[in-house]
Amino acid sequence: MQKDSERRVIAAAMKARLQAVAPFSGFQVGAALLADSGKIFFGANVESASYGLTCCAERIALFKALTEGERGFEAIAIVARVPGGPLPCGACRQLLAEYAPRAVVWIADTLKPQQPRQFTVSTLLPEPFLLASEARPKVRPRK
Ligand code: THU
Repeated sequence: MQKDSERRVIAAAMKARLQAVAPFSGFQVGAALLADSGKIFFGANVESASYGLTCCAERIALFKALTEGERGFEAIAIVARVPGGPLPCGACRQLLAEYAPRAVVWIADTLKPQQPRQFTVSTLLPEPFLLASEARPKVRPRK
């Protein structure tokens, strides 16, 4: 049986995906990020005519949450219509390792939202680039 929080976050990612702006690839991705505050932040991929400016769904959800003052995250769900669900790209893995290292990652095919695959951020990116603690900027929200 699926846990309530898992079901809720995956359902949010399914809803977020409906707002994808993916006219070039046609590949719509939805992400939902559960913050320690209990709030869920939605993200969907946004593509550019200059392709390389495209931003992934997970990164958009993360940037929205960070710029709303959130600093700790419990889980992220990422969904797309692909067998096994969409595994996050390397750039998104790096950002998750930096800002959401404790998050549980649920990946699902939109045809099987009740059967996600579950990962930890450190399994997805075991050796992220991190600055030494004395060089690391403080990322606490301004009061
Ligand atoms: N994409 C995501 O949004 N998340 C991923 O984890 C992988 C790829 C998007 C980027 C692009 O808009 C489309 O999927 C095809 O690569």
